[in-house]
Amino acid sequence: MDKQQAKIRIEKLKKEINRHRYLYHVYDKQEISDAASDSLKNELFKLEMEHPEFITPDSPTQRVGGKPLDKFKKVKHSAPMMSLFDAFSREDMRDWEKRMERIMPGQRFDYFCELKLDGLAAALVYARGKFSLGATRGDGAIGEDVTQNLRTVEAIPLALRRPEESELVKIGLPKPARNKFYAALDKGTIEARGEAIMTKKVFNELNQKYKKEGKPLLANPRNAAAGSIRQLDPKLTAARKLDCYVYSLITDLGLERHEQELELAAVLGFKVLKYNKYCKNLEEVLAFHGEWEKNREKLPFHCDGVAVKINQLSLWPRLGTVGKGPRYIMAYKFSAEQAVTKVKEVVWQVGRTGCLTPTATLEPVAVGGVTISRATLHNMDEIERLGLKINDTVIIERAGDVIPKVIKVLPKLREGGEKNIKPPADCPICGGKVVKAPGEVAYRCVNKNCYAVNLRRLTHWASRKAADIPGLGPKIIEQLAREGLARDISDFYKLTEGDLKPLERFADKSADNLTKAIAAKKEIDLARFIYGLGIRYAGEKTALLLAKQITNYKLQITNKSKIPPAAHRAEGQAIAEIIKYYQELKVDELERVEDVGPIVAKSIYDWFHNKYNLALLDRLEKNGVTIKPLEWRGKPQILAGKTFVLTGTLESLTRDEAKDKIRKLGGDVSSSVSKNTDFTVAGAEPGSKHDKARKLGVKIVGEKEFLEMIK
Ligand code: IVH
Repeated sequence: MDKQQAKIRIEKLKKEINRHRYLYHVYDKQEISDAASDSLKNELFKLEMEHPEFITPDSPTQRVGGKPLDKFKKVKHSAPMMSLFDAFSREDMRDWEKRMERIMPGQRFDYFCELKLDGLAAALVYARGKFSLGATRGDGAIGEDVTQNLRTVEAIPLALRRPEESELVKIGLPKPARNKFYAALDKGTIEARGEAIMTKKVFNELNQKYKKEGKPLLANPRNAAAGSIRQLDPKLTAARKLDCYVYSLITDLGLERHEQELELAAVLGFKVLKYNKYCKNLEEVLAFHGEWEKNREKLPFHCDGVAVKINQLSLWPRLGTVGKGPRYIMAYKFSAEQAVTKVKEVVWQVGRTGCLTPTATLEPVAVGGVTISRATLHNMDEIERLGLKINDTVIIERAGDVIPKVIKVLPKLREGGEKNIKPPADCPICGGKVVKAPGEVAYRCVNKNCYAVNLRRLTHWASRKAADIPGLGPKIIEQLAREGLARDISDFYKLTEGDLKPLERFADKSADNLTKAIAAKKEIDLARFIYGLGIRYAGEKTALLLAKQITNYKLQITNKSKIPPAAHRAEGQAIAEIIKYYQELKVDELERVEDVGPIVAKSIYDWFHNKYNLALLDRLEKNGVTIKPLEWRGKPQILAGKTFVLTGTLESLTRDEAKDKIRKLGGDVSSSVSKNTDFTVAGAEPGSKHDKARKLGVKIVGEKEFLEMIK
C-alpha cells in the first residue's frame, strides 16, 4: 500500500470506527461485534504506526471511552480512567517489552497477569470506609455517577472491612504503609477500580426468563452489564444480579508490588479474581495467556484477554503513559472469532452433484488463533444478500468448529476498485457448460463426471509416485474437495492450519502435520511432477523419459543444435520455464522421445496447449511449487541401456525405491521378462517371472548382487 492509499484507508477506517463507537456508546446500539471493531482498530493502529504523519488527535486510537450520558450526574475522576493498549500476538508482546527496555535499559521486569473481564469499568470510592461514589469511566476524565445502581451489586461492599494489622503484615506492608492505609480507611478516601460484569449463567437464566415473558432479549453479557448500570432504575440493576471484580487500588498507600494491591483489596472485602498470577518473565506471561486462550470457554464469565501489568509499582511512573493508556499495562487479547479482512477473489468449486459453490479467497487474517485465508459464501443468493464485491472489506467469523464465513460487508470502506461477482460461464474444473436450473439457487456444471474426475486427479497428484505427500490420502482429499479447499492440485499448497482445523477429524496436531508435510514436498522431481499431472498415456516411465529430455537437449545445446533457449536455462527450477520448454516441442519432436508413439505425443502436446492446464501450472508456481534439479545429472549412467525386471520381495528397499535407483542410473525397468531383459532381480519368494527368466537364460541376480550394482 503506498502512502496515498494508506492515507485514504486511514480516513475511511477512522470514520467507520467512529460511527460504530458513537452508536455503541451513546445509543447502546451494536451493529458489529467488539471483535470486528477491534479488528478495524487494529488495522488502523498498524497503518498509523507505519505512517505516523497521518495520526490525528481525533483518531479512535488516541481517545478513551465514550461520552457521558446526560441523564447522570457528572463526576470528575480522582485520576484519569485510562484505556489499555492491545497486543494481539507474541511479537506484539515482545515488542512491548523491548519498548520498556529502551526506556529503562538494564531493568528486569516482573509481571502480574489478570484475566481481562469484559463488562463495564467502575470506579468505587470509599470515604471513611463507606461506599460514597460509584462512577463509570465516561470519557476518562469525567464519568457518570451510578452510585445508586452499583449499591445494588452485592459483590461491591458498602463498607470496607477493617483488616487486622497482622493481615497487612502478611501482605508485606511496612509500618509506614500500614499507618497510611489506616488513615485513609478511617479518615480519608480509598478508591478501587474494577469491572462490573454479568456471568454467563445469569445471562442465560435471564434471557430464558425474558423469552418466556415475551420481553426483548439481552444481546450479550457485556451489553447486559453496561445497560443494567447505565439506566435510571436501581431496582432493574438489582434484578440483573451483576458481579464485580476489583483490579486496582488507586489510592497511593506506599505499596511496592501490584500483587499486594490486589491482596489488600481482597482483605478489604472486594472480590478479586482467583485466576490472577504472578509471572517472573515474559515467557511465563505468554504461557498464562496461551493456557487461558484455550480454556476461556470454561470460565464462568466472558473474558477477552489478559491484562498484563508490570508488578513493580515503582516502575509505573517511570514508564509513564502515552496517548490513551499506560505503558506499564498491556491488554494481550485472545484471538477473536471475528475479524475484518478483504476479499481478494471468489473461486468456484464443483461439488459431487456438479453444483458450483463460491468460496472467498481472503487476505490472510488471524481468527481464533489461526490464520484464515478462505471463507465460504454458500451460493450466488448469499453473495447478493451480503451485497459482496471483490476487494470489499468484510467481517468474517469462525465460531468453534465451523468453516469460516463472511457475515457482513462494510461498504463504507470501499475505495472504488471493487468488482461485481458473477458465476463462471464454464466449469473451472472441466470447462463444461455452467447452467442455472430455473427455480434453483445453485449453478451447475453439466458434465456429470466432473467431480469424480477431479477427485481422481487430486488423489493421483498426492500419491506416492507423484508429489508423495504423506497424510494426504483419498479420504482427506475427498473431505477437502467437499469443503471447497481443494478445487485443483494447486490448492493443496495454499492450505493453512486455519483451513483444516474446523474440519471433522482434524485435531490441532494433524492440521499442523499435514500443512508441514505439504510444505516439505513443495520441491518436486521433474519426473514425478510430470507423472503427477496425470497427462493421458504419460505413465511413470514416460514421465521419466520426458524429464530426461531436458538433459538431452542440454547436451545438444553444447553441440549447437536447435534448442528452445528457455530450455537450457530451465534445467529444473521454475515451472514457467519448463512449461515453455515442453510447449515448444512439436508432436514429431515428442515422438522422438524413447517409448513415445504418435498417440502419446499428441496427448502430451495437447495437454501443454490447453489453457486450463496452463493456468493450473501457473497457480502451482504461484503457490510455491518448484522443480528439483534433476537428480540423475552428474551420476554416472552405469545402467544405461540395461533393462531390469523385479520379482519377489526385497529386504532392504521397496520395489519403488529399487525402480527409482535403476532409473536414476540410466537403466530401465520392465514388468515382464523377455529376451530383451538384461537382469532379473529376485527377492524372497520370487514369482513366475523368475522361472521365465531361467527359461530364457536371462541373468538372475539376488538382492546382494543387485545392491552392489546400484551402489
Ligand atoms: S487495568 C489504565 N485490569 O479493560 C486502565 N483493566 O480495555 C487500567 N479491564 O478500562 C485498567 N479487566 O475496564 C485492568 N484486570 C484488569 C481488567 C481491566 C478488565 C477493563 C477495564 C479497562 C478496559 C481496558
